[in-house]
Amino acid sequence: MFEKVVAAPADPILGLTEAFRADARSHKINLGVGIYKDETGATPILHCVKKAEQKLLANEQTKNYLGIEGNLEYGRIVQQLLFGQHASLIASGRAKTAQAPGGTGALRIAAEFVVRNGLANTVWISDPTWANHVSVFQAAGLTVKWYKYYDAASKGLDFAAMQASLADAQAGDLVLLHGCCHNPTGIDPTSEQWRALAKQSAAAGWLPLFDFAYQGFARGIEEDAEGLRIFAECHEELLVASSFSKNFGLYNERVGAFTLVSASKEIADVAFTQVKTVIRANYSNPPSHGAAVVTTIVSDPALYAEWVAEVAAMRVRIREMRELLVAKLAERGVSQDFSFIRGQNGMFSFSGLSKEQVELLKREFAIYIVGSGRISVAGITRANIDPLCDAIAKVL
Ligand code: LMR
Repeated sequence: MFEKVVAAPADPILGLTEAFRADARSHKINLGVGIYKDETGATPILHCVKKAEQKLLANEQTKNYLGIEGNLEYGRIVQQLLFGQHASLIASGRAKTAQAPGGTGALRIAAEFVVRNGLANTVWISDPTWANHVSVFQAAGLTVKWYKYYDAASKGLDFAAMQASLADAQAGDLVLLHGCCHNPTGIDPTSEQWRALAKQSAAAGWLPLFDFAYQGFARGIEEDAEGLRIFAECHEELLVASSFSKNFGLYNERVGAFTLVSASKEIADVAFTQVKTVIRANYSNPPSHGAAVVTTIVSDPALYAEWVAEVAAMRVRIREMRELLVAKLAERGVSQDFSFIRGQNGMFSFSGLSKEQVELLKREFAIYIVGSGRISVAGITRANIDPLCDAIAKVL
């Protein structure tokens, strides 16, 4: 029977990692997947994580199942990071959080929750967006529509076009917004633009869904929640799919969260029973370790301070690589202006390189970047930046 199965195309991001691993060239550089690398090219375990794990090893008493929604203390911590420690919507019980296997798992919960409960059948996503969004939403049965976002000419956000295309979104439609560090462009709305969007959204009655996977990588932990918090002020209902893969470096622990905000605690409590049925039918209940690590760190003032400093160090290193990339490309006399890379946020730079140039970089120089031209700046180091810039200058 299986001979009838047709091969699926390789995943545009993780498929690239597979190809990279199989590449025998020793000078190869992987700037495809969004993972942080330090100056030595390693993806380190944060010091605060190691310390939390030591605490857990000494104190953990059981490997019993978690509840369907996961670690309850973790849920509280997620909400504090999203909405601020003293947010009234937390105190009022309007927010309910389920631990999820990564941000992807949280997105899938969000999608299935709205579809199964007949809340929405259309989701609007930015053009471009993270390659996996379409697959996750379509798998849950949502119809995907695109809103304009990136302006190739100015290499910036085309906010007027974004608002104009979203004017077609109907009341109740799910509208996906990237909380910060837009993936793949690295271009975020300004505070004023967030306010204007939130107003448009509230007036039109969209159901906002925030994908929030890079908190701390643009400006800071609190600062990066600005867009979400502006929306939370203007909306009785919204959804959040958040991830700690990047800001805690806990990629393979798959630690994320799905958060639902309702008009009242009573409505949230009822709606959350349906969230739990989605989870039960998918993976029953979440794995414990990653969430236990996050909970241990955020509940301990010293570990929390260490975490904030470690996130800042990652953010600063990536910013330095952006500066260096712009400077070194200019040194090589490339005619294009790459200074826009400086202003982008987070791990990625939407470089403007064409599919052909991306292909050439892989074939001739063993440099792996995503087909859209997205470069993971978080993978650039002082050791690989010269060969990278030489190669980019050549393909240009
Ligand atoms: C990325 O965009 O590279 C990351 O979010 C990793 C992934 O799962 O694609």
